[in-house]
Amino acid sequence: MPSLPELVRDHTDLGPDDIAWLGLLQADWQIIADLSFADLVLWLPDRTGSGYWAVGQMRPTTGPTALVDDVVGSFVATGRRPLLDAALREGRIAREGDPEWRDDVPVRVEAIPVRRGERIIALVARNTNLHGVRTPSRLELSYLQTASELTQMIARGGFPYPGQRSDHADSPRVGDGFIRVDAGGTVAYASPNAMSVYRKLGLTTDLAGEDLASVTRQLVPPELRADEESISAALGGRLPRDTEIGNRQGTVIVRSIPLRPTGEHTGALILLRDVTDLRRRDRELVTKDATIREIHHRVKNNLQTVAALLRLQARRIGSASGREALEEAVRRVGAIAVVHETLSQTYEEEVEFDAVADQLLGLVRDVGNESAAPAGGVRLRRTGSFGTVGSDVATPLAMVLTEVLQNAMEHGFPAGRAGTIEVAATRTQTGLEVRVTDDGVGLPDGFDPEASSSLGLSIVRTLIAELGGTLAMAPRSDGAGTLVELTLP
Ligand SMILES: Nc1ncnc2c1ncn2[C@@H]1O[C@H](COP(=O)(O)OP(=O)(O)OP(=O)(O)O)[C@@H](O)[C@H]1O
Ligand SMILES: [Mg+2]
Repeated sequence: MPSLPELVRDHTDLGPDDIAWLGLLQADWQIIADLSFADLVLWLPDRTGSGYWAVGQMRPTTGPTALVDDVVGSFVATGRRPLLDAALREGRIAREGDPEWRDDVPVRVEAIPVRRGERIIALVARNTNLHGVRTPSRLELSYLQTASELTQMIARGGFPYPGQRSDHADSPRVGDGFIRVDAGGTVAYASPNAMSVYRKLGLTTDLAGEDLASVTRQLVPPELRADEESISAALGGRLPRDTEIGNRQGTVIVRSIPLRPTGEHTGALILLRDVTDLRRRDRELVTKDATIREIHHRVKNNLQTVAALLRLQARRIGSASGREALEEAVRRVGAIAVVHETLSQTYEEEVEFDAVADQLLGLVRDVGNESAAPAGGVRLRRTGSFGTVGSDVATPLAMVLTEVLQNAMEHGFPAGRAGTIEVAATRTQTGLEVRVTDDGVGLPDGFDPEASSSLGLSIVRTLIAELGGTLAMAPRSDGAGTLVELTLP
């Protein structure tokens, strides 16, 4: 199925601002579908005038769907849906008296032009399954009334409110709590769920007929609410706002959408959501996160202690090969510590590996100068980006990279030789590709990486195999030196 940008590019002349407008509309249209008890379909007129492309669809959570099948991606020709034609032509909401019958379901259809500035950029079809329509209660009447005001605003270009983003998961839905205030900020209707939310905050009286902002001020102590202006603006229904209020008993997200169906302010739709439990869990998660970070920090410290011990021991050892072995162990432990250090600084179990790689380059540069002592100065640099890597991959990848870098340093540049070691990382479609090149002396004659039994490459081979990747070592084709190529899925 083609994506929205593809459909837009292939069939319309809409610009980025139009797309952003439709994005804002779609961020909020669950509200309209729910208030209408209707399915919404977003249609884009084809630039040739030949018909309409369905680019979005939203089902109501408050009633039965009128569209069992998905329609996104489908096309209807001009003339097949007279209501769409009329709404586009006349720039106003088009509706019909008689329902359409679809698979034995009576469906009432309405076409709403989506206006941005002077132009109609799209159409929203509102499809109501009439089997779901009962004798309307106060709640249903309030919902429908508000839905109709919102659709009028869409047709006038007054909704969505620019700059307002609300598609985050916390955003209240109609069913979480619905309040309708009039132009003066007095509650005209509050849904049972909205009443429950206010009961949670400690309200004992009714809401209807009350000034919502002042009732809320009495319940919420000043120190626990957003600034005074936000309270009056949001709960008075004068400005589009998302705000969070609360007291010791509860926390509530408030979303206000002022209604101006004909340009005059007629009041506002206010949605509420009780997020008391959610916020409590958030706080717990933050504590847990901090604990995990603290543990990574301690692991890093412990690894550094181990490294320090090994280094002390290395200094006391008489035999050069023994000393070298211990120094290598110091470096390997150090590489793991770098990963834990990085993990102790993020909130995710994901690592920005570029930072790790750069630290490893530094590590190899320092230790390399100490032991193998290539006095000629070898430059190490990274190009490209590793991107983020899961913490389970980060440690083995860090170890592999250290071994490969260390080899290039140690074997490519024997004492005195100067040159460059480059780490080039590329994110491919299938994973990660890392190329380590050096312009050193090159691999020994007849060298076979598979056959080598030394520890460094054994570590590399084992870890790469565990990660499901591949390893290739070869002389550089473009000059002297060695190319080591790693791929990871
Ligand atoms: N970039 C390179 N340039 C030249 N030779 C290399 C390079 N990388 C690896 N080699 C060769 O591959 C051999 C195997 O490397 P490997 O890392 O397994 O062992 P090592 O470095 O000798 O010992 P260690 O176990 O301490 O790492 C090296 O001894 C070296 O001859
Ligand atoms: Mg080695």
